[in-house]
Amino acid sequence: MKRRDFIYLVGASAGSVYAAMTALDLLKQPATARSKFEIFGNSKGKKIVILGAGIAGMAAAYELGKVGYDCTILEARERAGGRCWTVRQGTVETEISGERQVANFNAGLYFNPGPARIPQHHITLDYCQELGVPIEVFTNVNEAAYYYNEGVGPLSNRPVRIREAKTDMRGYMTELLAKAIDQDALDLPLTTEDIEKMLEFLRREGNLSPDLFYKGSSRRGYRILPGAGLQPGEPYKPFDLKALIQSGFGNYFFFEYSINQQMLMFQPVGGMDRIAKAFENRVGNLITYQAEVKEIRKTPRGVRVMYTDKTGKRQQMTGDFCICTIPLSVLKNIPADFSPDMKAAINSVVYLSTGKIGLQFKRRFWEEDDGIMGGISRTNQNITQIFYPSYGYLSSQGILVGYYNFGEAAVEMGNLSAAERQARALTEGGKIHPQYPQEFETGFSVAWHKIKYNLGGWATYTGDLRQQFYPRLNQPDGPIYLAGEHLSYYTGWMAGALESTRTTVAALHQRVQNG
Ligand code: PHE
Repeated sequence: MKRRDFIYLVGASAGSVYAAMTALDLLKQPATARSKFEIFGNSKGKKIVILGAGIAGMAAAYELGKVGYDCTILEARERAGGRCWTVRQGTVETEISGERQVANFNAGLYFNPGPARIPQHHITLDYCQELGVPIEVFTNVNEAAYYYNEGVGPLSNRPVRIREAKTDMRGYMTELLAKAIDQDALDLPLTTEDIEKMLEFLRREGNLSPDLFYKGSSRRGYRILPGAGLQPGEPYKPFDLKALIQSGFGNYFFFEYSINQQMLMFQPVGGMDRIAKAFENRVGNLITYQAEVKEIRKTPRGVRVMYTDKTGKRQQMTGDFCICTIPLSVLKNIPADFSPDMKAAINSVVYLSTGKIGLQFKRRFWEEDDGIMGGISRTNQNITQIFYPSYGYLSSQGILVGYYNFGEAAVEMGNLSAAERQARALTEGGKIHPQYPQEFETGFSVAWHKIKYNLGGWATYTGDLRQQFYPRLNQPDGPIYLAGEHLSYYTGWMAGALESTRTTVAALHQRVQNG
């Protein structure tokens, strides 16, 4: 076997050509280095019908096109990109309720209602590099942003700086731990010297006094900032331990610890849809827009897809293979020749509801008044969180994401009218930022479970579903392959769509080589 063959063969089974190349020592970089996907061989003139011009569908056409496959993409919408979408002046969307919104944002301002942040290790950035999409930092964590909870004891109903909650929580935790390990009774597998070193760490970690008490710290900020001349500053006093525990703020910390949410994170300059546009630049000529898939059929020679064109007329497209990237929430309602086990697997997958609202304000009060330059505030209200924009700092106006919620909160919010969602976002967010009513100008909301060609945010699997149904979804059903974020362990990420596409492309290509 030639080295090249091994590359796509391993790519087909493991989904990572990069891993294969690393295994073969063809690449010397560590596992986090940027990867480039390459298949070698001959397309044998095969025609591939790709359903959906989202990130997965366009990446499939892009990669298969590199070795000459004849790809064509059917896309239901007038635009490409799917959930990789940016709302800006003039964006129009009509939800399945019939409610139509037009974005009245100022030119140059935008928000990303779908994907908004990209971790450093995701292959999404590999494609940004390959396609020439400039990126900038997305601020996922800002110590200056707020926590605001209701009904949680003495710290209720007031915005608390994240740094205040974190410093105090860390202080009290390290104090408790320091006192505990200072006792012989614990029977720890540590020498006296180890314990001394551990105590030294805890003192620094929590900013404890020499006698191991947390008495507050300037790390949590100042009531009066230090300044010139005779102004040493005046630190805040710490919160009471019991009040802090009751507040539940500590339960927000873990989110940013997960590998996919750790700083630094990135976004394309100018809006997330720059990634979609970059793919569209490469494969846009292969896309038929406003082509709504009505039936997916197996034929003796491959597949036949029935769809309606932009005039509503029924059309059909045939091919040797089909790569279907339609979200399963939508696909399950499309008549298709899936085998019963595949059909059952498609039906089993649950999509998480999620929604966002973009709110444009006359001025960037969060920056000017609150000193919050990007990042996220969190609350136990329905709005769940507020994203401050990671672009356009200190300019005259801005759009922040007034809510980004999931599950029940998203269903409740999404089932309101657009005007009611906006009112609720202003009321709840206004408790954190009293400037809201004075400064608000215009908004635009998206409830993904009510967006026609999505009917949900992203696939969610329980461990049981992964075991019972997921493997089936990863196998082709005759000539039909599935691809998308739902076919990955990165559900809800563009990287999932892209990894899945590479896996599917490699598998399909291997079959063509063998066949
Ligand atoms: N990638 C999305 C986000 O970062 C959705 C997501 C959230 C996926 C949390 C997994 C975990 O908001």
